[in-house]
Amino acid sequence: MKLLFINGVNLNMTGKREKDVYGVQTLDEINSEIAQKLEGVECTFFQSNSEGEICSVIQNSGEYDGIILNAGAYTHYSYAIRDAVASVPIPVVEVHMSNVHAREEFRQKSVISKVCRGVVAGFGKNSYILAAESFLI
Ligand code: DQA
Repeated sequence: MKLLFINGVNLNMTGKREKDVYGVQTLDEINSEIAQKLEGVECTFFQSNSEGEICSVIQNSGEYDGIILNAGAYTHYSYAIRDAVASVPIPVVEVHMSNVHAREEFRQKSVISKVCRGVVAGFGKNSYILAAESFLI
C-alpha cells in the first residue's frame, strides 16, 4: 500500500503558528510519527504553498493507492485543486487537523469534499492517521 500525504498552504508553519489550534509539533515531526504508526504502508509526504505545484503532484500520483490531502486554506476556494482531484482515478481523503465546522464560517465550506472519498476533521495530527486507516479497512 502506497499513500501520498499532501499538505497545502501554510501547513509548513505547523508547530510555529496558532499552536492552540494546530499543536506544537512541526510537520516533519508529525510526518515521522505517521510513518512510524502506519507499519507496512509506504508513506510519501509532500508540502507546498503553491496551488499549481499541488495540482501537478495530484496529476502525477498514478503510482499511489490513495491520497490524504490537507489543502489548508485552499480547501475553501481552490477550484484548481478540486479539478485536479476530479481528474485522477485515485481516491482522495480530505483532512483537517482542526474541526473546521466549529470555526469561522468561511472554513465550513469546502470546494474539494464533493470529489473526495471522505473527510476527516478535528482530530489534530491523528486526522491524518484516521484518513490513512480508511484505506486499510
Ligand atoms: C486546516 C483548516 C483550514 O481552514 C486552514 O486554512 C488550515 C489548516 C486544518 O488542518 O485544520 O491551514 O486545513
